[in-house]
Amino acid sequence: MTDIKVELGHVKGFSADYQASTYFKTIYSRTGAGNDFLGWVNLPSSITPDFIRDVKVKAEELRKKSEVFVVVGIGGSYLGARAVIEALSNHFEHLVDTGNPKIIYAGHNMSEDYMSDLIKLLDKKDYSMTVISKSGTTTEPAVAFRILKNHIEKKYGKEEAKMRIVAITDKAKGALKVLSDSEGYKTYVVPDDVGGRYSVLTPVGLLPIAVAGVDIEKLVAGAQLMEKYCVENQDNNNVTAQYAMARQALYHAGKTNEILVNYEPRLCYFSEWWKQLYGESEGKDGKGTFPASVTFTTDLHSMGQYIQEGLRNLMETVISVENPANEVRIPADDANLDQMNYIAGRRLNEVNQTAEKATILAHVDGGVPNIRIVIPRIDANVLGQLIYFFEMGCALSGYMLGVNPFNQPGVEAYKKNMFALLGKPGYEELREKLLKR
Ligand code: PA5
Repeated sequence: MTDIKVELGHVKGFSADYQASTYFKTIYSRTGAGNDFLGWVNLPSSITPDFIRDVKVKAEELRKKSEVFVVVGIGGSYLGARAVIEALSNHFEHLVDTGNPKIIYAGHNMSEDYMSDLIKLLDKKDYSMTVISKSGTTTEPAVAFRILKNHIEKKYGKEEAKMRIVAITDKAKGALKVLSDSEGYKTYVVPDDVGGRYSVLTPVGLLPIAVAGVDIEKLVAGAQLMEKYCVENQDNNNVTAQYAMARQALYHAGKTNEILVNYEPRLCYFSEWWKQLYGESEGKDGKGTFPASVTFTTDLHSMGQYIQEGLRNLMETVISVENPANEVRIPADDANLDQMNYIAGRRLNEVNQTAEKATILAHVDGGVPNIRIVIPRIDANVLGQLIYFFEMGCALSGYMLGVNPFNQPGVEAYKKNMFALLGKPGYEELREKLLKR
């Protein structure tokens, strides 16, 4: 059984006629669009103890020599790792000594000021890094790695630098593979049949997550549990199918924007990972639910008004966490000037959960249907389950929508324009056209 529950009590009145078994069959028989990118389906069960051991040994070696560990990557080559690391780290990780290297990200933007600050920081810290790019040709991580490779080699010398760099890329093709082989970096492979946004349980996610001090065995075990559950429950009661069917029913009823809601700020990057997963998988052919995210109660004070009374094309999916890891109670105060004594003695989590109930009821009353995804706690095992839950939910939902959930043709458009405007050889004609506009 899975620890994840899906509650649909607040989406009443929206129904769709889907047979989940049909869509599970499309996935498992590999007969749907994009079926050469289904490596994620049995990825968890194909991870061997030897492989986990190898990643852990490398991670331990890097942990020992690093105050800071830099993860160079973008999109699917960075969001999964960050989602898990931030969900399982101390909220103030960068200010407290947890015994773990501080994980820092690069190659996910082109900001000169960001890079300049990073270089100044790395001048003073012992560090190592991983460069992650399946294609090996993505501009942002390629440029960042060029700069950081230069820095690390100057700081430690070429021989030591190469012990501090791990490359994660395609097994055969791509510039990064060629570079890694010629420099002698330790490399890990991104499997051919796993797309970037489905790659968190490959070395793309597992190595940085292990360096951060997370038990990757537990993470993988959670995903394995969910994989097994899905194989054994290919019907409309499967929680991944319930989620997919509900969001498709809502989409076809005009709820074209889905807001993923959390009440735990440590899940903020989990939402960023989810946005890429669902946005890239479904947003094509003029179709697809637009994925957005909020952290409540914080954003109730900024986005709450729109959600309550704005354009009625919204639905929410709430990730509800039953048990926090810690306990904090609200103290009584003799003066009671803030008039909070009526909740004195209660746990902060009781107030948080009450805010969740109150908000769901208000938003549902305001015309925003709510799906609740309930998890018992945030730990590595549950996160592993949740990752696989959303991956399977996405594949089912994409097939129900009638799109290929595994390609992303649209992301090339800006890249071509950028190459042309930067003067990349081969793009001269497009450059002429763009400069006239
Ligand atoms: O999902 C995707 O395909 C993208 O987000 C890619 O992961 C991202 O562009 C990075 O690509 P690469 O790993 O080839 O550098």
